[in-house]
Amino acid sequence: MTISRKVKEDLSNASWVRRMFEEGEELKERYGEENVFDFSLGNPDLEPPPSLKKALKSLADHPITGMHRYMPNSGYSETRKMLAEYLTEESGLPFEQKHVVMAVGAAGGLNVAFKAILDEGDEVIVPSPYFVEYKFYAENCGGQIRLVETNDDFSLNLAEIEKAIGEKTKIVLVNSPNNPTGVAYDKKSIEDLGELLKRKSRDLKKTIYLITDEAYRRIVYDQIQLPNAFNYYPHTLRVTSHSKDLSLPGERIGYIAVSPLCEEIDEMISALVFATRVLGFVNAPALMQRLIAPLQRNSVNIKHYEEKRDLFYRALKEFGYDVVKPQGAFYLFPKAPIEDDVAFVRELQSKRILTVPGRGFGRKGYFRIAYCVERKMIEGSFPGFKEVAEKYGMVRK
Ligand SMILES: Cc1ncc(COP(=O)(O)O)c(C=O)c1O
Repeated sequence: MTISRKVKEDLSNASWVRRMFEEGEELKERYGEENVFDFSLGNPDLEPPPSLKKALKSLADHPITGMHRYMPNSGYSETRKMLAEYLTEESGLPFEQKHVVMAVGAAGGLNVAFKAILDEGDEVIVPSPYFVEYKFYAENCGGQIRLVETNDDFSLNLAEIEKAIGEKTKIVLVNSPNNPTGVAYDKKSIEDLGELLKRKSRDLKKTIYLITDEAYRRIVYDQIQLPNAFNYYPHTLRVTSHSKDLSLPGERIGYIAVSPLCEEIDEMISALVFATRVLGFVNAPALMQRLIAPLQRNSVNIKHYEEKRDLFYRALKEFGYDVVKPQGAFYLFPKAPIEDDVAFVRELQSKRILTVPGRGFGRKGYFRIAYCVERKMIEGSFPGFKEVAEKYGMVRK
């Protein structure tokens, strides 16, 4: 065999999300698509806003000379300028276009940020449960993730983060609203995290970077206001995309924003631009850069997800499931009634319900439901969820 040993090893631990999705495809072939309740993948069911489609058509009808050519690795300056204006409005900080580097989705942005910051053996601290691709992204750049547990309600456990920070720590990476739990970190925890990182950076005489993965930043419910990490820690990089808020995951468009207060900022930006080039992205997709720039204050209809959250959460609680009410993203992460989350997920599968075992996100004994699907699929799954709950004696009297 000629492929890399490391890749071979990674392949043998294939992602649970993908595994369940593929098993779901088999079930769909056997029982018909409408008879399978597929909550395995976080693939938004909404179409992008009509304004985006209109802009796309207008660009096709009135092309701009050179719009398909190479560009600066950081992206179009007009797009970055518009993003900088938006970030200034949101944070009150003096963002300029140079502080924004366009990325090939949040995944591309995280790889670029890791490549720019990590040296061999450096650690990225990640609260768990977590988006497991982080492990591979860090390893792509010679780094390693170090997991720290969150509290029972999946809020940040700062004592655990503090314990984990050491000589090898280069980055603390937080994802809010979170995949897989849907939990959004409150102002106090981000403020305290900022203080902790200032203190630890001082004690260790080096800069620890805070990377915030905010792919779901605009998908929040109950009118909560998300804190802005830029306001609490100077060495912050936000990585985000329009995969979820504008329903464009296949178009691969996102960006990295570096706090204007970050020290040695020019060097950091040069490193991000270099990483974009040499990781082979070269630049983020040209057409999408033009289209998303004016849409910073738009998103898909978030109410649509909020209604589904309410519907699903209420039903699960009524059936007796133990689940934290999410405040964002489009995931629920209930506790399985038995320790073996894989066995429980198989039980749901026997009712043609596809979910993902919690161990796929670093937390055994739980399972993830992605509810970015049609309402009728959610409602259709309720009898199955109820039967399984009854089997395990979970149903409330
Ligand atoms: C937490 C989190 N980060 C990053 C990504 C990657 O997003 P993108 O498709 O924009 O690369 C995802 C995708 O599901 C995600 O859930």
